[in-house]
Amino acid sequence: MPRIVVTRALPQPALRALRDSGADMWVSPHDRALSAEELRDAVRGADAIVAMLHDRIDDDLLAAAGEQLRVVANVAVGYDNVDVEAAKRHGVTITNTPGVLTDATADLAIALLLAVTRRLGEGERRIRSGEPWAWSIDFMLGRGLRGKTLGIVGYGGIGRATAQRARAFGLEVVYTKRSPGPDPGQIELDELLERSHFVSLHCPLTPETRHLIDAAALDRMRADAFLVNTARGPIVDEAALARALRDGAIAGAALDVFEREPEVHPDLPALENVVLVPHLGSATVETRTAMAELAAANAIAVLAGDAPPTPVSA
Ligand code: GLV
Ligand code: GLV
Repeated sequence: MPRIVVTRALPQPALRALRDSGADMWVSPHDRALSAEELRDAVRGADAIVAMLHDRIDDDLLAAAGEQLRVVANVAVGYDNVDVEAAKRHGVTITNTPGVLTDATADLAIALLLAVTRRLGEGERRIRSGEPWAWSIDFMLGRGLRGKTLGIVGYGGIGRATAQRARAFGLEVVYTKRSPGPDPGQIELDELLERSHFVSLHCPLTPETRHLIDAAALDRMRADAFLVNTARGPIVDEAALARALRDGAIAGAALDVFEREPEVHPDLPALENVVLVPHLGSATVETRTAMAELAAANAIAVLAGDAPPTPVSA
């Protein structure tokens, strides 16, 4: 009987599918990420691991699991927590969950764009603080979207879904993408940063995109520009961003992800011009259930000797 290790509890339909596959299943009893040591102990003897984005799947962990390990099914579209080259050496298939979280993440990117440009966090804080307020013609004015330019960094599924929503708000969309080739909306990153009123990040975290948005990139951006990050925290140099926000080098930012998650740079919470939310991109009941079910289907397929629905191609 194959052994499936689930590193943290999943929505019931996914657990049911895994159990019904006839495997011996272990599900972490903890409502938190396992420590590296707990994870190493848990995966010993596993044929399949269903992993979360906070689990580091590296050479050591794959070796600790043992030679029988066939698949690591990551419950996320991003797989920067997985050493894909090491998995290849160990003959382990890696899968992710693309597609099912595209709409939820694009929705959040637009929600954050509106929240930061219309100062919603600041307004909420104002009312909840009990400080008096009253309507006036120039009270808490934000910035409008129509006719402005949104620069999308990374034009995969989520980037394209964000563009589609943005066009409905009257935004012009420009973008950068990895795959080269003629494409009318595609421009160089430097030009995107210089031109865009809003910059939204949708690229994966890789060695090439780590600190893609650093002090120099922030410097290129317009002083009235807003940055939105629903991708991965380390794509942005968070200390440089905190400085840029404090000094008015850019107008504002909205962040769903952080460089040292769940830590947030200590200068950010004190700033009014930044919206901070705790990694909620795919956090709807529907989407999280679909992600877990897709990860389960991937693990079950590989254990059955079938092609998994969504393997990672590195
Ligand atoms: C979430 O951050 C994901 O990559 O699915
Ligand atoms: C604002 O509340 C308006 O009615 O214009």
